[in-house]
Amino acid sequence: MPNKILETDNAVSATKKGIADKDTVNKDEMKSSPLHKFFVSALKDIYYAENAILEALEKMQEAATTEELKDAFEDHHLQTQKHVKRLEKVFQLIDEKPEKKECKAIKGIIEEGDEVIKSTEDGSATRDVALIIAAQKVEHYEIATYGGLAQLAITMGHDKAADLLERTLQEEEDTDWHLTEIAETSINFDAEQED
Ligand SMILES: [Fe+2]
Repeated sequence: MPNKILETDNAVSATKKGIADKDTVNKDEMKSSPLHKFFVSALKDIYYAENAILEALEKMQEAATTEELKDAFEDHHLQTQKHVKRLEKVFQLIDEKPEKKECKAIKGIIEEGDEVIKSTEDGSATRDVALIIAAQKVEHYEIATYGGLAQLAITMGHDKAADLLERTLQEEEDTDWHLTEIAETSINFDAEQED
């Protein structure tokens, strides 16, 4: 009788081992697919972008005129730190290492932000109008990226990763909406009065 139990145990562990081997094979297969490689590369791109945005937001907060916009940039900075952590979790969920890949698009958008700081007067409402538009360009880049990646994650069966990407997408959309609200309720009108 004890032998029989042992046999059964062995059979169970053999079955488990079979599943484990199959999983390893599936994982290797998954990792070598062109779509997976693209997905990882796009994640590295947005991981670079989020880190670059962290730095840019500090400059934008310092350059902003109104407290309202300074606060909005501060909130966005805190939110971006969360987005970086979430991306690290997404890498972990798909068994990849978080790495940055230079994102030329965000570099260009941030450079434009630097230019508007230089070309507008310190302490003016026009400075804030320009900063809001620069920040919204960043948001729209992120919205496009997270929207696409969240859908792709669903298609590829990475449900937990998709959930995290969707949460970030929602926050980017909320930030974009908030910036529009600030512009439309006061800053655009104040800037119009400036000589
Ligand atoms: Fe973000």
